Amino acid sequence: MSQVTIPAPQVLLAEVTHRCPLQCPYCSNPTELIKKDTEISTTDWGRVFAEAADLGVLQVSISGGEPAARRDLTELIRAARDADLYVNLITSGIGLTQGRLDDLVEAGCDHIQLSLQDVDSDGAKLISNMDKSLERKLDFARWVRERSVPLTVNAVMHRLNLDRLPEIIELALELGARRLEVANVQYHGWAALNKQVLMPTQEQSSRTNQIVAEARESLNGRLLIDYVPVDHYAEYPKSCMNGWGRVALIVAPDGSVLPCHNATTLKHLSFPNVRDQSLTAIWYESSAFNAYRGDSWMPEICRSCDRKEIDFGGCRCQALAILGDASAADPVCSRAHPHSLVIATDESPQAGEVATSEQITYRPNS
Ligand code: FES
Repeated sequence: MSQVTIPAPQVLLAEVTHRCPLQCPYCSNPTELIKKDTEISTTDWGRVFAEAADLGVLQVSISGGEPAARRDLTELIRAARDADLYVNLITSGIGLTQGRLDDLVEAGCDHIQLSLQDVDSDGAKLISNMDKSLERKLDFARWVRERSVPLTVNAVMHRLNLDRLPEIIELALELGARRLEVANVQYHGWAALNKQVLMPTQEQSSRTNQIVAEARESLNGRLLIDYVPVDHYAEYPKSCMNGWGRVALIVAPDGSVLPCHNATTLKHLSFPNVRDQSLTAIWYESSAFNAYRGDSWMPEICRSCDRKEIDFGGCRCQALAILGDASAADPVCSRAHPHSLVIATDESPQAGEVATSEQITYRPNS
């Protein structure tokens, strides 16, 4: 077994709460949401930000749920900035007034990432389960622009909105976004419960690849487009989280520290908590973070693969969910598995089906 060199992390994702006014059926929070009464305090978060900076982290993304559900959001942003971190706020924009936005900017918010469900008001309502959510987001984006805070639009894509991708790209330009994330749903947690409704067709997926490629070329220099393709139609796995325990760490609302959003589905691992240990000890020494570093955990087909430094073995949570073995080759990988393995589990959707709210399992607000 080769000695694993552990790089310092670059990014901290601070999930300060799982509470959210929206109820998106692809929410990246786990299906067992953390309750408000177990959230760590403002002081705890201040210590986490300072420890993260000492560890080498350069950027914190303050996320949720909806981070604005925390009354102390301004203090959290100030604490992150005081720790010399670049502060990215990931928000739905719902629940933030202009006055509150002013406070966040004054406290040190460097960048805002706004989630967008759809360019169509009914489509946005269907996904968010909130009336006028699109209109409220458009107001919020305008306020961000008026304050000259750099804006990224994060559009989560699925079967019900993929056909409107060209309009979404147009809207991102109109809103003055510098960056657009076209992120296809990852089918874990809540999204796995809603796979039947959300999974795009192969034809939609291929068209999306083409639209993104053309837009990247024509908008070069005006809008940076990040793209997460539909995993299930890909030939090779994505480098989930840029590799387990390589670049980023997530601190959940109750202080537990995770290598990825779905790590708690890996029941054979126990995840450390910032209430008990320093982030440095957790990053370098915890068995959870070391579980899938390097290549000694990999099956032979991955260990000898020339792509292992590109995808780092793919997604452990997907391997567990589909194959029942978190150490198996990512089920997406066409070198390791027949591709029907992934598609067969999808009960692939029919194009043109109209989804209704009754067909959707919404995440609760808290
Ligand atoms: Fe956990 Fe990919 S979501 S490793």
